Amino acid sequence: MGGPTGSVVSAETLRDEIVNILLESEGPVSGEEISRRLGVSRAAIWKHIKALRAEGYEIQSSTKVGYTLARLTDLLLPREITRGLSTRQIGRRVYHFDETPSTNDVAKNLARSGAPHGTVVVAERQTGGRGRLGRAWQSPEGGIWMSIVLRPKIEPRMAAGLTLALGYAVARAVSLACGLSAKLKWPNDVFIHGKKAVGVLTEISAEMDSVNYVVAGIGINANVDVSGYEFTATSLSAELGRRIDRAALARAVLKEVEDAHEVFVSKGLVAMISDITRMSCTVGSRVEVKTPEGVRSGLAVGIDEDGALLVKEDGGEVRRFLSGDVTIGSSQNLHQ
Ligand code: BTN
Repeated sequence: MGGPTGSVVSAETLRDEIVNILLESEGPVSGEEISRRLGVSRAAIWKHIKALRAEGYEIQSSTKVGYTLARLTDLLLPREITRGLSTRQIGRRVYHFDETPSTNDVAKNLARSGAPHGTVVVAERQTGGRGRLGRAWQSPEGGIWMSIVLRPKIEPRMAAGLTLALGYAVARAVSLACGLSAKLKWPNDVFIHGKKAVGVLTEISAEMDSVNYVVAGIGINANVDVSGYEFTATSLSAELGRRIDRAALARAVLKEVEDAHEVFVSKGLVAMISDITRMSCTVGSRVEVKTPEGVRSGLAVGIDEDGALLVKEDGGEVRRFLSGDVTIGSSQNLHQ
């Protein structure tokens, strides 16, 4: 990697390069060598090393041999998410916040000002995290609170299907990256061993016949202590008995979202229904569906190509729900 010369290089880029040099090196690297490779002074390198330490990187230094990277930061910094990211568009631009009210709100503002498809907003904490149906979403440190701007060329009536496809993508990422048996609760909650670990809040801006943008807000209880939570919730660390690598999981989510989005836009939900149904913990269960019109119950028998949940009521009639709040199981054992 040649040192950037002849143009002004941002502090961020220099820090990215320093981390890359330290990662690639098998032993310590001297300040002199880093300074030569990046074309900046040793004093500047020292300043950036201090800044990287403040970001949580454990960098050891010895006057004789130089710098060694002992541990990467645990923060979801853009450079940690994008290193090794195999997507084409999603996650190519990442905005990181230590704290923000809601990453969905930031992403919506960016989308309104023209942010491209695949722009990602991530925060370590949210102070006003929002869930579906007007609920609050607890967002302490240790989770993955992330929103993705999508610009699908679809009609607004396809939004319910996209919501489901996104939930499927996140459930698949959790299964693949963590080796957990993740289940999709219609439309887009991810459950592990009967408890909710992930929620997705999809917000859409549309005209009569076209979608301007979709913001997919993904909340993952990764390394979060959920013991005080009101409803039946879990976290990935609680299920695994160890902390997870949040950046690796965030990358897996971005990859699965990109793949699912592509299939959905090019072939429609119909191409994904059998995979989605296989991952579903809703289909095949007794459910209660709360809608503004009232509560209905029955056996969930399938999902149709619009993403609607099909529920066979006790009288034998099959009803279609495009939205609603579903609880699964008997009334003694309902989980949201
Ligand atoms: C739900 O299950 O009710 C959906 C929860 C969605 C939470 C995520 S966290 C990132 C993004 N920002 C928000 O304010 N909400 C979503």
